Amino acid sequence: MALSAEDKANVRGFWEKIRGETAEIGGEALERTILSFPSTKTYFPGFDLSPGSAQVQAQGRKVADALTDAVDNIDDLAEILNALADLHAFRLRVDPVNFKRLNFGLLVTMSRRYPQDFTPAVHISMDKFLDSVSAELTSKYR
Ligand code: HEM
Repeated sequence: MALSAEDKANVRGFWEKIRGETAEIGGEALERTILSFPSTKTYFPGFDLSPGSAQVQAQGRKVADALTDAVDNIDDLAEILNALADLHAFRLRVDPVNFKRLNFGLLVTMSRRYPQDFTPAVHISMDKFLDSVSAELTSKYR
């Protein structure tokens, strides 16, 4: 799904508002994903997956930092996400369905923490952006 100029502006604008809090957003989103979809736990053997786990928060920060990188390079998503696409497809072998689950967690977390800024227009643009990121991260599966 191609991102329009308006989508990119919405995503960039919203990201500027949340930039200082993305690590917490990533952590909460991952925690929600693991709680809502317990099958995702299988990808994190050896992790402490209890609520509030520092390891989950740290992993959420990594996801958030990668998303910040993607926002900052929104016109070059394939290039910026190339190494992560290799990692998730060839080494981690994450089933693509899980990206939708994490995206759902991210959208819920953003809307809950930024109810005023997460307008319907930002919602659709952010959904499309996360979908585009997922498309790149799952592009090596076939
Ligand atoms: C928005 C989508 C996602 C982004 C941006 C993302 C980003 C990242 C990043 C930046 C890393 C660390 C890479 C490194 O250390 O070099 C990572 C690792 C990992 N990701 Fe993802 N990821 C995403 C989705 C997923 C999903 C849906 C799953 C599975 C449910 C997943 C499972 C993992 C696992 C298991 C690791 C390795 C953890 C470890 O053992 O340290 N990722 N991801």
